[in-house]
Amino acid sequence: MSRDLIESGLGWEYRDERVAKMIADPETVALVARDVSLIAGFAIMTFGDDRAHLVLLAVGQSHHRQGIARAMLDWLLESARTAGAASVHVELRAANAAAFALYRSAGFEQTLRVSGYYRGRESAVRMLRLLRAPDAALPVWQPPTFDRR
Ligand SMILES: CC(C)(COP(=O)(O)OP(=O)(O)OC[C@H]1O[C@@H](n2cnc3c(N)ncnc32)[C@H](O)[C@@H]1OP(=O)(O)O)[C@@H](O)C(=O)NCCC(=O)NCCS
Repeated sequence: MSRDLIESGLGWEYRDERVAKMIADPETVALVARDVSLIAGFAIMTFGDDRAHLVLLAVGQSHHRQGIARAMLDWLLESARTAGAASVHVELRAANAAAFALYRSAGFEQTLRVSGYYRGRESAVRMLRLLRAPDAALPVWQPPTFDRR
């Protein structure tokens, strides 16, 4: 999906081995959206100390415009917020209007345009979603409680 939907025309960098490494990394979340046995979409996000980076996100063409990307993004934003991240960052191809609209609809703002970012051939747009003020005190985490009745 990354080769065909995200990296198409740029050369294939996110091959099985690289993706498997990311899945095995405890600082990374890999999310798969399923339609029965079909993989409808996927997303991969890495977590740093106070920021998260959305590395890959795609939905198969037959499943577009059903809210799947937005549902994955909302889940990832909530995970990042729970993990204490102050912001979520993403880069996308500057010509990718669908992804730009998706991220804007989820509250991301464009921060930068980097010309030649992709193999010196295509510009990238960087976007950022703030989750909290960077210096805000974090709530103390409490384990979930269960009703044992
Ligand atoms: C961008 C992409 C992930 C959107 O997935 P999706 O599941 O179809 O998106 P959703 O149905 O969740 O759409 C949520 C919102 O995003 C925006 N959006 C999504 N696709 C759009 C399009 N083609 N044109 C304009 N806006 C679009 C809309 O605001 C939409 O809300 P709406 O349907 O209520 O208008 C999908 O087109 C895709 O996989 N593209 C190829 C890979 C890619 O570009 N990945 C992102 C860069 S890493």
